[in-house]
Parts: sequence; C-alpha cells; structure tokens
Amino acid sequence: MQETPTLPILNIISGSREVAADGQETFVATSTRAAETNRKGKVYVETYGCQMNFSDTEIISSVLIGEGYGTTDNASDADVIFLNTCAIRDNAEQRIHLRLQQLKGLKRRNPKLVIGVLGCMAERMKSALFEKEKIVDLIAGPDAYRSLPQLIELAETGQKAANVFLSLEETYADITPVRREGVSAFLSIMRGCDNMCSFCVVPFTRGRERSRPASSLLDEIKRLSDEGFKEITLLGQNVNSYLDETSTVNFAELMYRASLVNPKMRIRFTTSHPKDISEELIDVMAERPNLCKFIHLPVQSGSSRILAKMNRNHTREHYLEKIAMIKSKLPECALSTDIITGFCSETEADHAETLSLLREVRYDYAFTFIYSERPNTPAAKHFPDDVPSDVKQRRLSEIVAVQRRISDEIHRSLVGKVFEVLIEGNSKRSAEMWMGRTDENRVVVFPKAAQSAQAGDVVRVEIVEATSATLLGKQAL
Ligand code: SAH
Ligand code: SF4
Ligand code: F3S
Repeated sequence: MQETPTLPILNIISGSREVAADGQETFVATSTRAAETNRKGKVYVETYGCQMNFSDTEIISSVLIGEGYGTTDNASDADVIFLNTCAIRDNAEQRIHLRLQQLKGLKRRNPKLVIGVLGCMAERMKSALFEKEKIVDLIAGPDAYRSLPQLIELAETGQKAANVFLSLEETYADITPVRREGVSAFLSIMRGCDNMCSFCVVPFTRGRERSRPASSLLDEIKRLSDEGFKEITLLGQNVNSYLDETSTVNFAELMYRASLVNPKMRIRFTTSHPKDISEELIDVMAERPNLCKFIHLPVQSGSSRILAKMNRNHTREHYLEKIAMIKSKLPECALSTDIITGFCSETEADHAETLSLLREVRYDYAFTFIYSERPNTPAAKHFPDDVPSDVKQRRLSEIVAVQRRISDEIHRSLVGKVFEVLIEGNSKRSAEMWMGRTDENRVVVFPKAAQSAQAGDVVRVEIVEATSATLLGKQAL
C-alpha cells in the first residue's frame, strides 16, 4: 500500500459472517484504528453486506483519512458514525433500522454527532430514509464516496446532506484502499451490474456495470504483493463480464496476468455468473497453479421455469453443461453456490428440481436464502410473492439438510489427504490452533506444531477428522 507517511494506518478488524436461522447471511465488519490525525474528527464505520461493501469501506476510509479524519472502533467516541449498508433482502435493511434505534442514545448525548447511512440501502431509499429515520443526517450511495468530506461538512451545519448519484464511470481506480494488515486482500475489479435478475436490487443500488482498467489493477496487485499479502480476491457482481475496453483485456486474460505478478500469491475471484463463465477462464485456471481451484457459481434454482422467471439467462441444462466442463478440465475444483427458495410461483416440482441439482453437482457449500421481495424490482412489479412463508421455511430446511449431507460426505472423503494450507491466523476457538484455507477454499483447523509457523505461511496439513462444517488436520512433513 502506498501510504503517505503523514497518514495513519487504519486497521479494519476482520469481519464476521453471520448466518441467521432463516439462512439469511450478512457480512459484518467494523473499522478501527488509532486516531493519529483526526484534526477533522473521528469516524466510526460499520459495514454490512457483501465483500464488495467491505471493499468499499476501505475506499471510504482512504477518502476520509486523506481529508484529515481519524477513525475509531468505538462508536461512542466518534464525531461521525457511518453504517455502510446492504439492501439485498428485507432483513438486511431491518437490521439497519434496529441499529439506528440503538444509536439514538449517542445522538441525544452528543447532538453534534453526524449519523450517515452509506451503500446500497441509502441508494435504494434515497431521501425517504431521512423521513423514516429522523436521526440520519447524511446519505451517500456507492458511487458518491469521493464527496463524503463535503457531505460531512454540510451535515455539520445542521443540514441534511445527500448524494445518491450513480455514475457510469466511477471505479475509484486512483484511490488506494486502506486495508487492514493481514494475509488476504479484496480488490474490486468492477462495479455495478447489468444483469437484471428479476429478484435483485443490486442493479438499482449499484448502477451500470463498469470495469476498472487492467493496468491499475495489476499495479495494485504488485503493490499488495510487495506489502506481503499472500492472497487476493478479485471482486465483482459478475466478474466474468469484466472487460477493460481500452486494452480489451477480458477476465481470463486479467486472471492470467494477475497470476504472473507473483506466482506464489494465491488469486481468487467472486462472483461468477453461469451464463458468462468461459472455457477460456477454466483453461487459464488449469494452466496457472496460483489461480485457486474454487468457483462460486450461483445457480439460484434447479428449475428452468423458475430460472426463466428470474431472468437468469441460463437453464438448468446449460448450467449443468458448464459444471461438466469445469469438472472435466479441473477435476479437483471445489464449487459453491447460492440458492433462493420460495421464489414467485415456485411449486413442489420446482423445489424438487433444486434438490436434485444439489445432488447432481455436489457443491462443497451452498448459501441458501428465502426469497425476499424487493420494492421496484421486476419480480416485485410483475409476479406475486405467493409462496407462503411456512412453505418457504420448510423448503429451506430441506435444501439445507440435503446440502449438509453432501458437504459432510465431501469433507469425510478428504480424511487422510494432505493439502497446502495458507495460515490466516488463530482459530476462533483456541489460540493453540491455526485456521487456514486450502487452495479449494476449504477451512482447516489444526494444532500449532513445535516447528515455528506464522500467519501467512503455507504449510502441508493432513486432514484427520471432518464434519460438514470443519476440517481438522495435523501438520504433515
Ligand atoms: N452478483 C451475484 C449475487 C449477489 S447477491 C451473483 O449474481 O451471483 C448474493 C445472493 O443473494 C444472490 O446470489 C442470491 O442468491 C441472493 N439474493 C439476491 N436477491 C435476493 C432476494 N430478493 N431474496 C433472496 N435472496 C436474494
Ligand atoms: Fe443481482 Fe443478478 Fe446482478 Fe447478481 S447478476 S447482482 S443476482 S442482478
Ligand atoms: Fe448488499 Fe449491495 Fe452487496 S445490496 S449484497 S451490499 S451489492
């Protein structure tokens, strides 16, 4: 990271993934750092939603620190509190409303406190958020982060400040994100989404698809490598449609070039859209050892009728062909997926097709969600949300049960095998154990051996025990 020496280091405490009982998932992270230069005040940022939002918080931190703000990990110590929000499902937004209620006490004690809502929920609700939540002083959408310093200044004069303009060009290419120190870094290679899946709010909250120039990405990857990062995850809503229009570098070519920057650095990516994942990409992944053999390929449903209603632009058969192509070229590749259950008009037969697809593909892991109608999306406008909630809940449990059995079987088949594991840090349960990931993105926990190893090292680990959730290993020679 090219840091101006006068600027403080910002640490973003590693986030945590929370999966609620209904299968809804949220990625929560808080940002923190010692506030060395806070001549303009201290900002506290809380991040919700996907990894792209997490990565945006690193851009937000960079913009603010560049303007002389400091940051804090203590909300009650802050002059400005930002919630960087998600709008993907209704419960993601309900969490924010709840959080804003909790912040009322701080605002009462310090009327000068500026409270801002950033990100996808800000973009979706726009100024309606000011009406609904009186304590909000500032809102900024995902393309408006350069204007945060001006927005804060305006809010400090007691006015409501908002910027929810979406841009056709903004990629924040020239802003060096302020990352937490660590083993693994996220890098947004594109923004927005043009797909218009009928259930999805993202095209409305993040605008049109645009790619960040390849040269600036490759420079940043080099910098991250020089700083000691061991793994980079390239991020986009649909990375397979990445295209640098000036150099005509596509995603497969970007991956190839990224893999050459430091052949020891692992490169991952998320998320792939099944309609756009190419044979060229899989060939590059097969050729370059440091491109990780793991693909998250959301299918959403196993029923072609539902997929058409979702406007996914792929059928069940088309999807399974892509899976077969991946498995034939990359037999060791691990797969994961996203499933939405209870989408408009979904029948028991459609649901059975989803269960059979899970059995056919045999993913390592599936993120499963109950359909949540989002205002103004094509599905909300055209199809009634007509699957009763108890039916949605029951189908979700069936999907989770089938997937758990498969994950369990896959994990148990790994016992006795040896993997190269990149150590990320202490296991959550015990400081006596390391937690790391295999190339295929499988989490492995293993006891710290007598020989010294540290976070960031790649060690050989033999799997000795497995459940559907965890692999337990021991260091191998
Ligand atoms: N761009 C990514 C997905 C981003 S959102 C992709 O296309 O793969 C992550 C996941 O949230 C989606 O894959 C989908 O499974 C889920 N999701 C999106 N909108 C939803 C909604 N309205 N209700 C329930 N789940 C939803
Ligand atoms: Fe949403 Fe579909 Fe775009 Fe993914 S590809 S962000 S699900 S519209
Ligand atoms: Fe949520 Fe926006 Fe990401 S809606 S999932 S934070 S793109």
